[in-house]
This record gives sequence, structure tokens and C-alpha cells, in this order.
Amino acid sequence: MAKDILKYLREKEYVSGEVLAQKLGISRVAVWKQIQRLKDMEYKITSDQNMGYCLVSRPDLLIPQEVQRGLSTTYIGEKIFYFSELESTNIIAKEKALHRIEAIDEGTIIIAERQTAGKGRLGRKWFSPAGGIWLSIILYPQLPPSYIPRVTLMTAVAAVKAIEICTQIKSQIKWPNDILINKKKVCGILTEMSAELDIINWVVVGVGINVNIDHRDFPEGIQENTISLKEVSEKEVLRVKLAQTFLQEFEKYYNKLKRKEFPSILEEWKLHSHTLGRKIRVDIGERIVTGEAVDINEEGALILKKEDGELIKIISGTIV
Ligand code: BTN
Repeated sequence: MAKDILKYLREKEYVSGEVLAQKLGISRVAVWKQIQRLKDMEYKITSDQNMGYCLVSRPDLLIPQEVQRGLSTTYIGEKIFYFSELESTNIIAKEKALHRIEAIDEGTIIIAERQTAGKGRLGRKWFSPAGGIWLSIILYPQLPPSYIPRVTLMTAVAAVKAIEICTQIKSQIKWPNDILINKKKVCGILTEMSAELDIINWVVVGVGINVNIDHRDFPEGIQENTISLKEVSEKEVLRVKLAQTFLQEFEKYYNKLKRKEFPSILEEWKLHSHTLGRKIRVDIGERIVTGEAVDINEEGALILKKEDGELIKIISGTIV
């Protein structure tokens, strides 16, 4: 109901309570209650005794009606589950994908204003206060499990593009999934999946972007390696716009991936790479290997040239 009221308020400068009540077939008191609900959701609505209600400004909250308004995707974000606070969007997304609690379509999104137990890679915590974009996308790609690293890489390209479109800030990708500005992390990606031997059951792509977060709010220990878009641009960034742009870019690149056009995505990844050409140390679980990052291959694996000249392929690891 509140959604319908918003629709009418957007169409005209002022709409009277009487007209709203008539159009929606409800009482004027019910209209008033819905207006209060919208105000609680941080919509600024003024009222004039003679002219009625006027929508002055919309909140920069990631509520579905704001994110979906003007969203030009065909399936990514068509269904959004919104929470002002939850543990982790990836946890909820996985539960939904796993149990198919409701008919969960590909492209369904879980989005939260805050996470109390945000998850990073390798079991790390992900600091997720209000002001960021914390979302997870549920996918059912008809692709072999070996494609998962490519999903992470294409997500990173979508994030870099969206950040640049919305803020003009250029960021770099540290293999496999960190987005950096001035060598500090602004965005992280956590891809989780369930697969059989040769088929993926579901994939959850979790994306966290530090948007309007003040540096002093980051916990000590990560402060020196973390940055937010607000800090770089020295002004608040419209999160709704950024979330929409990211979803649009995501759908574009994901469709390319499904059409097996990964090589062109990889070209773009390389253009934004922070890793290639550098001497790095990579933690591959059982040991740390050192060498020059010379390439990313068509599977999304990092090709490292060791000091003795040997080339090794790393599918999964962390640059330390
Ligand atoms: C990393 O760089 O370690 C990955 C961080 C991923 C964070 C996002 S925020 C939204 C989604 N929900 C989570 O709990 N984690 C991911």
C-alpha cells in the first residue's frame, strides 16, 4: 500500500489525502497511517491542509522500491529480500538457495543495511556497519564448477565499472577478488557454491562495498588497509544509484559469462589489475609461493613465474 502511495506522490507535486483514499479504495485514516510508515522509512513528506501531501525527498536506503525503481536489469534484482540488520546476507542467501524456501529465482538478492556477522574470505569477519552496500546474489549457472573463479573475476569487473560510473573513481583489482583504491580495500567479494562433480547447484555471490563509512569507524587493525568511497570522493555517495549500477553491470557481465565470452571479460579484468607485473607472495594453503604475477589464464587462475623461471598455476589463494 505504501508503495502505491509513493507512486502517486511521485507523479504530482501535491496529492490530497482524499484523492489517495479514493484511488486506493481505503479510508483517509489508512492513508495517513501509510504516510507515517513512509516517514518512518525516512521519506520526507510534507503535508498542507489545502493541497495534501508532497514528497520532498527519498531516503538513500537500499529498500526494494528504491533499488528497483529505474533498475534496467531483466532478472538480477527482480526479487529483493531487504533487511535493516541481519547476520550475513550470504548466510540467508545460502539458506534460501539450499532449501528453496520460496521459489527463489536466479538473480534474487538479499540486501542489508548492516550485518552483525558479515563474512569475509577464509573465515575472516567482514565489518559491515550502516553506510555500506552489503548484498548477495543467488545464481544457478548451467556451467561446470570449474567456472566459479570466473564468476568471482567477472563480479570484480562489474564492481570496478559501477564504482567508476557512479563516482568517477578508478579502482584496481587485486587477484582474485579485492577491489582497491590507493592500495586500500574498498570492496570484497565472497563467492560460495554447492556443486556436484560436473554441475553447479547454486552460487551465492556476496559483495561488500565500503561506501559512506568514516575511516575512524573502521576497527583498529583494518583501518590502515581499508578505505571508503566517501573518503576518496570527500562526499556522500548515493548508495541506491551505486547498487543499481552494480546490478546492471553484474547482469551484463554474467550474461557474457553464460555465453562463454569470458576472454573479453578477462581483457577488462586485466586493464584494472593491481596484481599483474608485480612480485608477490601467495598463500596457497599448504605453503607460500613467491614470484612475479605474469598472467591470469582463461580459467581465471593466476600464473606465477617463480624465481627459477618455472610457471605455476594458482586456482585459489591469497596474496599476502
Ligand atoms: C572478502 O574480501 O574477504 C570478502 C568480503 C565479502 C563481504 C560481503 S558483504 C555481503 C556478503 N555477506 C557477507 O557476509 N559477506 C559478503
